[in-house]
Amino acid sequence: MACRICGAETREVIDLGLSPPANALKRSPDDGEQTFPLVVEWCSKCHNVQLRDTMSAEELYRDYLYVTPQSETLAAHYDYLLGFLRQKGYIDSSAFVVEPGSNVGLFLRHMQPHVRQVLGVDPARAISQMANDAGIPTLTEFFSPPVAKQVKAEQGPADLVIARHCLAHNPSPHEMVEAARSLIADSGYFVIENAYVLNTVENVEFDQIYHEHMFYYSIHSMSALLQMHGFHLVDVTMSLVHGGSAVFVASPVSKTPQPSVEKYFARERLFFNSSVFDGFAERSKEARDALVALVRALTSEGASVHCYGATAKGNTLLSFAGLTRSDIPYCVDSTPMKQGLFLPGSGIKVIPERYEFDPPDYYLLTAWNYMDEIVRKVRMGGNYQSQFIVPIPFVRIV
Ligand code: TYD
Repeated sequence: MACRICGAETREVIDLGLSPPANALKRSPDDGEQTFPLVVEWCSKCHNVQLRDTMSAEELYRDYLYVTPQSETLAAHYDYLLGFLRQKGYIDSSAFVVEPGSNVGLFLRHMQPHVRQVLGVDPARAISQMANDAGIPTLTEFFSPPVAKQVKAEQGPADLVIARHCLAHNPSPHEMVEAARSLIADSGYFVIENAYVLNTVENVEFDQIYHEHMFYYSIHSMSALLQMHGFHLVDVTMSLVHGGSAVFVASPVSKTPQPSVEKYFARERLFFNSSVFDGFAERSKEARDALVALVRALTSEGASVHCYGATAKGNTLLSFAGLTRSDIPYCVDSTPMKQGLFLPGSGIKVIPERYEFDPPDYYLLTAWNYMDEIVRKVRMGGNYQSQFIVPIPFVRIV
């Protein structure tokens, strides 16, 4: 295949087989579903890592069920991010901030008291309605050049466009970056946050691979993409959310980059070599086999196992591992829209978080990125019995 950033030839990194879209929960466990390949490939020229086959954004996001969870981990991250943007002078109280992929507007709600105006742009109909109902003005649109033009005409240029966990989720990042370029004032900034490919690979986070994650960005590939649309990468910071994420800051005008940019470029120059991905597929299969062996050993001894977190990544994990509702009957999740539905592929039933009622012997932590918070919540809820199986980066019981 050709690299979707620079057009060079790519080579395969891992093939996870066929699986249904990870957020397409179903009404009945026996509902038929379409499956699509999950093959990741690498471009050795610009170091872009991408899914070979991409589904259309329209198909994935118009009736999207993913609602950003109310979480202490995320609230702390939003505070960190706001502090970073304010201290570094990337926003001030006069800023007009636009967030593509704003979901129900939780991040903009944090941002709102510190800036002049916020605007969300999200194509998911029910989700953007929830944001508007909660007082976060949100357009029900994909962030595209015509939408950017309309926003600029009606509300003026943006001082900050911040695309969090969204630029990797769309088959057309060129369109989104072009839209950002046309909307942002010359004095403004474009900030992108996404899972960082070095964390994905080094921590064997093969479960991060699903149809929504079409790109696995590095400083190299992000910088290449930005440059093609007249942006200059000026700063980078790292965070622990979603298994390790990178926050990229770009400016439409050339500026001396912060030392962080060269620091991370240098680290990536050591990381990206021809054998970098060789062990990844092998290690992923080993982690999968260890998980299946553990779950089957526990259930054959009569122990009960439920999943914790109806996450997209959990569905890749279950699908790659071949675990289904015959191994794990329930999955706990705090999202009302997911409760009562069944996980794609595995057919596991999603139930609300409730700690007083018949707790399982083990929770398979499919939302391992919220481990500390969830373990604390379960214990504080009075469940001292269930143990936790953490699948990533290696299978263990905590
Ligand atoms: P997320 O980590 O965003 O995963 P992905 O991107 O792989 O879908 O999703 C977290 C899920 O976990 C979400 O469905 C809500 C759920 N969750 C709980 O059920 N309880 C909690 O305390 C937290 C923090 C999340």
